[in-house]
Amino acid sequence: MFKVAVLPGDGIGPEVVNEGMKVLKALSENYSVQFDFQEMQINAERFLNTGKLLTVEDVEALRKFDTIYLGAIGDDRVQPGVLEKGILLNLRFTFDQYINHRPAPLWKPFGRLKRDVDFNIDVFRENTEDYYIGAGGRVNDGHGKLDLRVKRNLYDMRVTLQADADAKDDFAFEIGMMSRKNIERFADFVISYAKLVNENSLIVVDKANVCSNIYGLWREVWTEKCKQANIQLGFMFVDAMSMALVKNPDKFRIVATPNMFGDILTDLLAEVTGGLGLAPGGNINPKGISMFEPVHGSAPKYKGMDRINPIATILAAKLMLDNLGRRDLGTVVNNAVRATLDQGIYTQDLGGTYKTHQVGDAVVAAIRKMK
Ligand code: IPM
Ligand code: MG
Repeated sequence: MFKVAVLPGDGIGPEVVNEGMKVLKALSENYSVQFDFQEMQINAERFLNTGKLLTVEDVEALRKFDTIYLGAIGDDRVQPGVLEKGILLNLRFTFDQYINHRPAPLWKPFGRLKRDVDFNIDVFRENTEDYYIGAGGRVNDGHGKLDLRVKRNLYDMRVTLQADADAKDDFAFEIGMMSRKNIERFADFVISYAKLVNENSLIVVDKANVCSNIYGLWREVWTEKCKQANIQLGFMFVDAMSMALVKNPDKFRIVATPNMFGDILTDLLAEVTGGLGLAPGGNINPKGISMFEPVHGSAPKYKGMDRINPIATILAAKLMLDNLGRRDLGTVVNNAVRATLDQGIYTQDLGGTYKTHQVGDAVVAAIRKMK
């Protein structure tokens, strides 16, 4: 029995998560697997009513689960950053989910490229450091001191920044940071995944030609790790990479990126594969509680309309199954999604006419038929 904490979140989150749960429940009919779903409301609505983001009690409660299934977090009524940092990033950091796995296979015939190229890329985005650490602040009139703190499982660090400028201006800082141990464990995971899928090379993205401190350390560790593991390593600057992913996605198989660039590249790549409606992500802590969600956000304007594509969230459930050690069932879900699309059953974002719940039903029907 897998205990699954379900966080439907905001906007269209509840609708898509509902389809994902339907699919998981359908597996229990024919395969030896059981899920115990428990929904928790950790979202904008609760924040607006109570001021609570992710509380200590939430974290305590979540620790009792095997895994977390998340819809989407985000609401126009709340200033950008509040929910994202207070809930989503907080979850990723608190549960030390240092890997963000975002598979990007071409979903024929929905690929957006004019040329017919086949590809299947797994992007691994570092998920707890880089420019996402939330360490920064303002210095007004050119003078100020920032007392910053970055707390992770691996370390609890204080950073003090004393700024004294000769210009009477306002300055804002956002500090990026990476640690050797974190890059090491991230690289270990990516390398073991490469071996699992019989790949002996990988591409690592950065901007070491400009941010040479942070990505200098990153390169150093990757070079060591790949050498030890006998993996062929290539580095790409993120600007060239964004071009290459459109021009020659078929040249890539396993790609590792820092947090911020991974955020950007995976939206780009999702479009190339067929659209954001097809792109899932897994926030993984190999020894802890992982969390699975679509790459897309809460799309508030489509809330309650039953028209959003649930496939990204259904594929997030597939990643969850893989991660829970049931790759066999992950494959079942993936095949059922493929069969559904092949039958012409898809939502408007892919040019279809089907509703959210009809796509979920079709995936369920495909699972039943497969046994
Ligand atoms: C994503 C999202 C988040 C991120 C936001 C909502 C904080 O864009 O999961 O890609 O930047 O990681
Ligand atoms: Mg993003």
